[in-house]
Amino acid sequence: MDEHRQQGGTQRLDELFRAEPDRLSRLTFEVAGVYFDWSKTHLDRATIERFEDRAEAAGVAKARDALFAGDIVNPSEGRAATHVAERGSGAAGDNAEAAARRGRVRALVDAIEGGAFGDITGVLHIGIGGSVLGPALLTDALGRSRSRIDVSFLSNIDGGAFEEATDMLDPVTTLIVVASKTMTTAETLANYGAALDWLRDAGVEDPHGRVIAVTAKPEAAVAAGIDETRVLVFGEGVGGRYSLWSAVGVSAALALGWDAFEELLEGAAEMDRHFRFAAPAENVPLIAAFADRLYAEEYGCGTRAVFPYDERLRLLPFYLQQLEMESNGKSVRIDGSAVTAPSAPVTWGGTGTDAQHAVFQLLHQGTAIVPVEFVTVREGEDSQSPEHRRALLLNAIGQAAALMHGKASDDPQRAYAGNRPSATILLSQLDPRSLGALLAFYEHRTFANAALLGINPFDQWGVELGKQIAGKLADGTSEEKLDASTLALMERAGL
Ligand code: F6P
Repeated sequence: MDEHRQQGGTQRLDELFRAEPDRLSRLTFEVAGVYFDWSKTHLDRATIERFEDRAEAAGVAKARDALFAGDIVNPSEGRAATHVAERGSGAAGDNAEAAARRGRVRALVDAIEGGAFGDITGVLHIGIGGSVLGPALLTDALGRSRSRIDVSFLSNIDGGAFEEATDMLDPVTTLIVVASKTMTTAETLANYGAALDWLRDAGVEDPHGRVIAVTAKPEAAVAAGIDETRVLVFGEGVGGRYSLWSAVGVSAALALGWDAFEELLEGAAEMDRHFRFAAPAENVPLIAAFADRLYAEEYGCGTRAVFPYDERLRLLPFYLQQLEMESNGKSVRIDGSAVTAPSAPVTWGGTGTDAQHAVFQLLHQGTAIVPVEFVTVREGEDSQSPEHRRALLLNAIGQAAALMHGKASDDPQRAYAGNRPSATILLSQLDPRSLGALLAFYEHRTFANAALLGINPFDQWGVELGKQIAGKLADGTSEEKLDASTLALMERAGL
């Protein structure tokens, strides 16, 4: 940080507030009922102007228009990225197709609620990565007081995960939702097979008849024994980590009700409109991306931390890890040239206030500067005491102030340097609309980072090699000459 300042970088945060009297109004925003405060970051007027120029030079606005127009923005896979169409934004043709698909999801939800599958008390949602993280977050965040049905999520290949996910469900009255864009993912297919056995063992006569598939490869789902009337399709252009708005959200829609799911989409669409049309200096995903680039590239921050101060959002850091790191953890630009700046920092986090008693020491006094994000909600559940909520919010706000101001002391052990950046997001209440807007904000911020870097956020080639090697080890066809370490591990693991 000091090095940066010596190079003519920004002032201390508390000095910035003195130097820029309009700082609060320029760096706080209210969009779709969500309040964003980026004023405790080192984005000063000059830095923002510099990043605006860079965005112009990098063609960020053009890239954004291409995204919403349904043009090919994922060239390595020759695809558009159509997640925005899933919530009614963007190119008209895509919207009609997405609306028709959404109509099928709704019809199935209505049929299930109407008793077409008999008395259903639970859903076992099987999927991994983008095919589970979004629906799990939505259901955990919004379903606590309003869930109509028990929805359990299963992703890991570990048999312990299967036991845990099915523990509270009655196989005789449970529907299986198997979500996989490709229908080739080893973990999902193995868990699908185990779920069929689980139903069979409980005496369900036609286990396949109790399965709903969600996929971009309907023919593969049909080949796996699922009747096409129960195959919900989403487009190839919807990336896994951007898919919760599509049929992948069906389990969340069952838990929360269709109206809630539509409100979620509307909240996201409101953020879409903001990202598309707001001027750069008022565009929250863009401003957030400017801060991300500033810290990653100029302050050398290798990580960024997200702390929801709300138990209902405890899965948010996991969801963001995939969104940000799978999208932007790349070393090559769209044109094939090497990325010379640091791309995605490591996203990590936890829940406040627990995290204060575990990792905040490093945030306040460690040698690494970690930009922190506090995600807060003004209202708790009706059943909760206002005192708890007050204490929770005071902690989040107090921590952000402590990080910025620090505290001098004659004793170096007890001194806080301060000048540590944070951003704060405040939702009035946690409802489908505000959560939709929040998640769409994160998607567009990720996209804006990618556009500034010139990389493609919509592919994920880096995940393939490990899968291939594990597959070859499994069937003994590894062509590579295995190293001594791998061979010894195989032997010790009894493989
Ligand atoms: O291995 C990574 C990945 O391809 C993610 O991008 C994706 O969300 C996840 O696996 C699941 O893939 P699928 O939905 O095809 O089963």
